[in-house]
Amino acid sequence: MGMLILGIDTSCDDTSVAVNWNDRTLSNIVSSQVKKHSEWGGVVPSIAKREHERLIDVVIEDAIKVANRNRKDLTEEISLENIDAIAVTVGPGLAIALEVGIRYAKELNKKYNIPIFAANHMEGHIFSVLTKNSRGKKIVEFNYPFMSLAVSGGHTELVLVKEVGDYHLIGRTLDDACGEAFDKVGKMLGLGYPAGAIIEQLAKEGDKNAYKFPVPMRKKNNKEILFSYSGLKTSVLQVIQDIKSSRQSEKLSKEEIINISASFQYVAFEHLVDKLKLALEKYSVKDIFVVGGVSANLTLRRTLKKNFKDYKFHFPQKKILTGDNASMIATSCYYNLNSNSEKSKKLIKDFDEIDKIDRLPNMKLF
Ligand code: KG4
Ligand code: ZN
Repeated sequence: MGMLILGIDTSCDDTSVAVNWNDRTLSNIVSSQVKKHSEWGGVVPSIAKREHERLIDVVIEDAIKVANRNRKDLTEEISLENIDAIAVTVGPGLAIALEVGIRYAKELNKKYNIPIFAANHMEGHIFSVLTKNSRGKKIVEFNYPFMSLAVSGGHTELVLVKEVGDYHLIGRTLDDACGEAFDKVGKMLGLGYPAGAIIEQLAKEGDKNAYKFPVPMRKKNNKEILFSYSGLKTSVLQVIQDIKSSRQSEKLSKEEIINISASFQYVAFEHLVDKLKLALEKYSVKDIFVVGGVSANLTLRRTLKKNFKDYKFHFPQKKILTGDNASMIATSCYYNLNSNSEKSKKLIKDFDEIDKIDRLPNMKLF
């Protein structure tokens, strides 16, 4: 027996819909709006809302079409009528963007009588590691409790996962998120938005020791499990301004850009290593999930494995699963529906509760 889950995520600037058969993802359509936002140097909520509204019908249609192509002999023809549950992100995210997905889910509920699971976007990121492909392959072996490091444009969070539904926030950022720091440094270097993947590529050619940016919180031997990226961002800006004023030119050389990229990235990841070390001294786990947009970075993956040889690292299995996507939302729904934990049961909305489902821009996991 299994269930068909329609996942919907409109929390930020990606319109995404997925169809899962249990934890197998049959389709995961992500329609990125990045081009619409990049000229503004960041996400503009009103543009995100408008684009979600424009795209959602087509993205749902595509998700159903692709799911049918991938379903093989798993189940009968997939259509909205035979979806068993809708998992829709209700937070955290941009209020007016979240609203589009929630409204759509409610319409589908009314039309086809499908129950709704009010999903947490950050819980989704954690489960992005456990999504299987359409053949049910790629089973990850892990044990609870495990540590999850979420590194994205909006979040830098260490979460101890005791079981499905039982999450403990161990560390968070005091200011900028890790991906946000990549984007801001990218802007200073004139690389466009988002800049994470561009900085990763440039850093490969650069010298990570060319500029000595201070690793955040190391100076005072700060042992708190907290992240901070705004000081690093300011150090990078200072170096760029010094170079420009010494040459009385607004342009950096290619060599300076690749060296700043490499030096910044190195320090950004050293900071993650420092704080993860502290968390692992305090909490006993064997498995570490690393999720979110920045987890696509292969230098980060290598750095973590090198620094923590006694642990088993798990990353999303495909690049599309590192960023915002709806497959992770459908997979988190599957895990919650199959959990005995009281906490996860509470998330499941029955028909009477559907009207009460509302956007929760600051939704917490804890
Ligand atoms: O998870 P995500 O797609 O959206 C949020 O929920 O924020 O993450 C996007 C963030 C952006 O800041 C982007 O620059 C960063 O992830 N990112 C990367 C890489 N790919 C994306 N950062 C570093 N290296 C990458 N390869
Ligand atoms: Zn995200």
